[in-house]
Amino acid sequence: MELYTTIASIKEALEIGRSKGFTIGFVPTMGALHIGHLSLVEEAGKLCDIVVVSIFVNPTQFNDPNDLANYPRTLESDMKLLSPIRCDCVFAPTVGEMYPDPDQRKFDFGNLERVMEGRFRPGHFNGVAQIVSKLFDIIRPNKAFFGQKDFQQLAIINELVRQKGYPVEIIPCPIVRENDGLAMSSRNRLLLPQYRECAPLIYITLLEAKKLSSKKSVEEIREYVVDQINGSNLLEVEYFDIVDDRYLTSIENWSTSGGKIGCIAVFAGKVRLIDNIIFDL
Ligand code: PAF
Repeated sequence: MELYTTIASIKEALEIGRSKGFTIGFVPTMGALHIGHLSLVEEAGKLCDIVVVSIFVNPTQFNDPNDLANYPRTLESDMKLLSPIRCDCVFAPTVGEMYPDPDQRKFDFGNLERVMEGRFRPGHFNGVAQIVSKLFDIIRPNKAFFGQKDFQQLAIINELVRQKGYPVEIIPCPIVRENDGLAMSSRNRLLLPQYRECAPLIYITLLEAKKLSSKKSVEEIREYVVDQINGSNLLEVEYFDIVDDRYLTSIENWSTSGGKIGCIAVFAGKVRLIDNIIFDL
């Protein structure tokens, strides 16, 4: 496993592999790696000849300066976690390397960027698109791997690829959970013990909502989820919506055609957690 910190050096290394006909699998991350990330890296190793992981806390996707300042930066332990699995290149550039000049590009993802995360984190997806497009230009992967926990991000990335015509296949990977059901996230390590203890209620409630969905209306399920989670006193729902899985528009009844997914953001103290569940009615 090699560590690259400059764009020129990673491009040069990958060009050698590409000229030999090797395929490149890419896992973009912001570091603070956990088993969820490792599952993406393993999947990339199964499907591609060269595995590249980027570790870069991208400032342009943070709309809250405190969140950016507090985001865990753990390059050394990240490298240790990656060493037993197949990861050929780690790309960990500085902010100056990725943004020598401010990135003024504005993307337009329509409804996909206006709802849920987009509504509560203005500019977030523009920042994600800025960094992911830069990374795709540098790495030029054949396949790129994204976790389904960030369901809306996945929809945005698919749309970015469609709009810009990137020759990359986006591979969605399932959510990996702790034993108690909490979706794995780099932010979990920031949870104070009392919040960590009650955070599994998020997934417990989503599972219960899925069970109840054969008996209750969409609106009743929305209310149920918010009431259950807010009822814990330590957790506060920022949003919960049930949307169609393509355009992310709110659905009004279960008979709406296509896939349906419930997406949630919850504050556990100062830490913001997201999760989702598929309603297969
Ligand atoms: O999902 C993430 O960790 C980030 O949004 C990503 C895709 C690495 C871009 O910074």
